[in-house]
Amino acid sequence: MHVIRRRGWEIPEREATPEHLFLSRRAVLGAGAAAAALAISPQAAVAQRVTDIPDPSKDLYPARRNEKYTLDRPVTREEVNGNYNNFYEFGTSKEIAKAAQALRIRPWTIRIDGKVEKPFELGIDDLLARVALEERLYRFRCVEAWSMAIPWSGFPFARLVELARPLSSAKYVRMETFLDPKMAPGQRASWYPWPYVEGLTIAEATNELTFLATGAYGKPIAKQHGAPIRLAVPWKYGFKSIKSIVRFSFVEERPKSLWQQLQDSEYGFWANVNPEVPHPRWSQASEELIGTGERRPTLKFNGYGDYVADLYKGLENERLWA
Ligand code: MTE
Repeated sequence: MHVIRRRGWEIPEREATPEHLFLSRRAVLGAGAAAAALAISPQAAVAQRVTDIPDPSKDLYPARRNEKYTLDRPVTREEVNGNYNNFYEFGTSKEIAKAAQALRIRPWTIRIDGKVEKPFELGIDDLLARVALEERLYRFRCVEAWSMAIPWSGFPFARLVELARPLSSAKYVRMETFLDPKMAPGQRASWYPWPYVEGLTIAEATNELTFLATGAYGKPIAKQHGAPIRLAVPWKYGFKSIKSIVRFSFVEERPKSLWQQLQDSEYGFWANVNPEVPHPRWSQASEELIGTGERRPTLKFNGYGDYVADLYKGLENERLWA
């Protein structure tokens, strides 16, 4: 299939699905169409009101900043970051923020299962009540050779592992995004193996940097960034940071991510930020700081080697790029 020979998230607009074109048209119609729908259909009116409900977690932010994690560059402006995204569930464009507002984030149930003492489900607000939120400034480097700097709010992944109580046989955590093609038109594109899946070893999941972001820029995380809960692993390429997670499974087998299923030779499990190893089709030596036009050399492990280099010992024969 032609799609898998391209870099996963750079499929040109002209190859987008009819659903995507339909979505663009809807986006253009915008608020006027919503108002018309309110007048015509009671169901549409209810749907509109549901997406307008204020986020019940809004009073938890801003969270206190953990000063340990510092940046070597300014924070990317919120309006820049919030308008240059990848969220394939809503389409292939980087300008996906408007379309992503269709994401319904309450109720939001998270399932914890697999090799754990007892599988369970809990709502996002119950989870938020059981964790201590903090703010961290993290760099973010995309495999496409651009970067941003983001003030995430959230909690360490290690806290989720503690709540999950995995068995000693668990070797990996497999994470899964929602599956709802009615809400997310991108999921009607059958050539992607939905839902979006990513994986971490237990050692990666419990590394102190590994963070579950529920907020950004001092408020609940915006829908286009993967509300209400997404992963933030700052030493790896951005595509590892799965958005809008609904399931954490503790498993023995190494999970195969969506991108790996599409193009195994380019987006392997150990994909990280290693400027010395080019992507098979382009260099990873430098990056563009989005919003500034500045280009900088890319740092190994995105500059987080002190925290994560140990995780890679003995992996010299693995593909440590993408
Ligand atoms: N998670 C889901 N569920 N769907 C996606 O399309 N895109 C990935 C990652 N997580 C993606 C995802 C990619 S390719 C990148 S670069 C980052 O999210 C982008 O995150 P941002 O839009 O918040 O910058």
